[in-house]
Amino acid sequence: MRDALDNPFSPGSDTIPEVWAGRAEQLSDWRDIVRPRRLAGLPERGRTILGEPGLGKSTLVRRIAQEASRAGDWVTPQLRIPAGADPLKLVAEAVLQLAADAGLTVSREKRIGDAISRVQAVAVSGISLTLRQSEGPEPYSALTDLLVEVGVAAIARGRTMALIHIDEIQNIGDEKALSQLLIALGDALTYAVEVAVPGGARVSRSLPIAVYLTGLPDFEDMAGARKGATFARRFKTTTLSAIANDDLAEALQEFVLEGWEVPDGNGGTARVMMDPDAASLIVDVCRGEPFLFQLAGEQAWYAGTNTTITADDVRRGWRGAQREATAHVERIIERLPAREKQLLQAMAGLPAEQRTLTRIAEVMGFSKVTAAGPTAQRLDTVRGIIDRGKPYSFRHRAIEAYLTSEWPKL
Ligand SMILES: Nc1ncnc2c1ncn2[C@@H]1O[C@H](COP(=O)(O)OP(=O)(O)O)[C@@H](O)[C@H]1O
Ligand SMILES: [Mg+2]
Repeated sequence: MRDALDNPFSPGSDTIPEVWAGRAEQLSDWRDIVRPRRLAGLPERGRTILGEPGLGKSTLVRRIAQEASRAGDWVTPQLRIPAGADPLKLVAEAVLQLAADAGLTVSREKRIGDAISRVQAVAVSGISLTLRQSEGPEPYSALTDLLVEVGVAAIARGRTMALIHIDEIQNIGDEKALSQLLIALGDALTYAVEVAVPGGARVSRSLPIAVYLTGLPDFEDMAGARKGATFARRFKTTTLSAIANDDLAEALQEFVLEGWEVPDGNGGTARVMMDPDAASLIVDVCRGEPFLFQLAGEQAWYAGTNTTITADDVRRGWRGAQREATAHVERIIERLPAREKQLLQAMAGLPAEQRTLTRIAEVMGFSKVTAAGPTAQRLDTVRGIIDRGKPYSFRHRAIEAYLTSEWPKL
C-alpha cells in the first residue's frame, strides 16, 4: 500500500488525474452549452483555452474529449503542435481519421472521394501546397470541405459530435499556416447545411462539430491583430487561473471521509485515509496550481506507509518536492518579457494595500503612471496573473507566494 502502483496522484503525466479538482465551469460549458447547442444545429463558437504552464489546459480538454468519446462522439487525439512543425499536416491527418470514423473512407460518392484525396495531399505537403501555386484550392478549403462531410455524416448518425483538440497552439510560428488553420476550422464551425424537417420544410443548421484550441497566453498576441475580429467571432477565449482552495479541498474530501480504495496485495482492497489537517496542508502548499497539487499529493502518499496520510507526511513529502515547486514557478516567471517580470517584482515588493498602478509605476522607475499601464493590462487580461482591482492583487497565487514569502519552504 501507498506505493508507486496505487498512488492516485499524477503530476505531469499525460493521463487524466484520478484526483480531479474544480474546472466545473469549463466542463459545464461543454456539457450544457457547446455539445447540446451544436447537436441541435445551433451556432456556437469554438473554444480557446489559454493559461500559464501547469494550469491544466491540456488535461481539461483531454477530459472533455474522453467524455465525448464515451458518449460515442468522434474525437481526435490531443494534437500537440511541436515548435516549428507544420500544423496543417497534423490536422489533415486527424481529419482523415475522423472521416474514417465517420465511415466516409468507404464512400463511393465522388465528392467525398475527392475531398479525401485533397486532404491526403495536405497531410503529405502541408502548407507548402500553397507555395507551389499549383492550380486548385488552398489547403484550408480542402480541410473545411472534408470537415463538412464529417459533420453531415454525424447528423445522419444522430446525436454524434466531431471534436477536434489542438494543443500548444502558441507553437504555430508560421503566420500563413496559422491563418489557413484558423480559417479552415472557423469555416467548418460557421458552415450551415440545409436539412429537411418533419412536414417537408427545409431549414439550415450548423454542423455538430466542436473545436478546442489550447496553449499559452502568448497565442493571444501572435496572431493578434491579424486574426482579429474574425477569429473572435468564431472562437471564445477563456484564460485559466488558479484552482480555488474550496475546489481543491473538495477533491481531497473523498480521502478524508471514506478513504481512497487501493488493492491490499492479497486480492482484496484497503482504504488510504487522510487526516483533515493533512488535506488542508496540501491545499495550502500548492497555491491553486493543479500541477503542484498533484505533486504535493504524490509526495505525501510516498512519505509514509500507514493507512492514514498525516500532516507530517505532507510536510516531509513537500520538503522533497520544494525544488520542483520552485522550478515550476521560476519557469513561468522566466518566460515572461522583462517588463512583465519587472512589474510583478515591483508589485510584490509593495505592501498589499499599496499595490496601485501609481505606486507600481514609481517603483518601476517610470515618470508617467500610464507607462506601466499596458504591461499591467497584459498581465491581467492576457495572462491572468494579476487582477487590476483596487488595489491590484495576484491571481497566480504560486507566483505571489514565491515573490513575497519563503514559499515553497514551510
Ligand atoms: N482539474 C485538475 N485537477 C487536478 N489536477 C489537475 C487538473 N488539471 C490538471 N491537473 C494536473 O496538473 C498537471 C498539469 O496539467 P496540464 O494539463 O499538463 O497543464 P497545462 O497544459 O496547462 O500546462 C497535470 O499533472 C495534471 O494531472
Ligand atoms: Mg499543456
